Amino acid sequence: MSEEPLVLGIETSCDETGVGIVRGQTLLVDTVASSVEEHARFGGVVPEVASRAHLEAMVPTIERACREAGVQLRDLDAVAVTSGPGLAGALLVGVASAKALALALGKPIYGVNHLASHVAVDIVEHGPLPEPTMAMLVSGGHSSLLLVPDVTHDVRSLGATMDDAAGEAFDKVARVLGLPFPGGPHVDRAAREGNRIAIDFPRGLTTGRDVERHRFDFSFSGLKTAVARWVETRQRAGEAVPVADVAASFQEAVVDVLTRKALLACKEHDVDHLLIGGGVAANSRLRALAGERCAKAGVTLRLPRPGLCTDNGAMVAALGAQMVAKGREPSDLGLPTDSSMPVTLVQA
Ligand code: KG4
Ligand code: ZN
Repeated sequence: MSEEPLVLGIETSCDETGVGIVRGQTLLVDTVASSVEEHARFGGVVPEVASRAHLEAMVPTIERACREAGVQLRDLDAVAVTSGPGLAGALLVGVASAKALALALGKPIYGVNHLASHVAVDIVEHGPLPEPTMAMLVSGGHSSLLLVPDVTHDVRSLGATMDDAAGEAFDKVARVLGLPFPGGPHVDRAAREGNRIAIDFPRGLTTGRDVERHRFDFSFSGLKTAVARWVETRQRAGEAVPVADVAASFQEAVVDVLTRKALLACKEHDVDHLLIGGGVAANSRLRALAGERCAKAGVTLRLPRPGLCTDNGAMVAALGAQMVAKGREPSDLGLPTDSSMPVTLVQA
């Protein structure tokens, strides 16, 4: 089996139609067509709208990726696709397209886990993953701490959110503050002008018995409610809401908890590499605080560049290429989609 396999990856788990092509550990192209603007007026992703947009974007996005990478489809060694978790209808479009490609080209297909792909993408930026690596995935749908002995087949869950995902909390708080959807980048921007110690918002599951019972779990719904109450109280009193200070203080509470728990996991599992992935890993304050705390703890921080943290096809291609290089068996052509695919299942 080639050590530098040429793999095309397709990602359609949410609102991004991503197609990436990787050769071994080298990213050749990462093309993304997003339907985010079509969802903005609803304040959240509408599954049917996303599925329709994937259907329309799929062929042009594949064609664009091949053209920009100077790759012919027949030269591919394999096709990889996100088979879960994600929106059922959206996943179906990607998996059906990947099957059609694999069948027509006579190439193997790898149905892979979206979350493992968020981890694997860093290989194309920072080289092979140390085994094990500690990975924290923070996105609109997930917040997980993972011990990753081998991203192609051994991913272990140490903890996850009990309620809202970190990105979901950003999106909901943005709404309370009157910022557009998706809120994460807007909160990040607003927070740059604010004071992060202006308001002392709660840090869920970080004290007393909570931390004993939920050492590596997260909870952001109490924080989200605290922000909403704080803002409402101001509004009812007819006072102006200091948006930048609320954004900065909220953001600080999230990234404080995330980095604290991630480093505790590194310490207790004796792992000296921490990788942060998923859309929220694009957050500037999370990147800065993680950098400071990792340096202090002697942990090497791996952060994919922001464009590779949000959903994309390169991450799927990167994981697919690892699977081919490591000689993993391809998936069956009848592979299913699994909207609630567990994080510990790397391949469908
Ligand atoms: O990984 P992703 O693109 O899609 C999912 O799998 O969910 O993550 C999207 C999430 C959204 O909630 C978005 O608000 C958040 O990532 N996000 C951010 C930032 N950029 C994206 N959150 C905080 N700060 C950012 N700069
Ligand atoms: Zn994602």
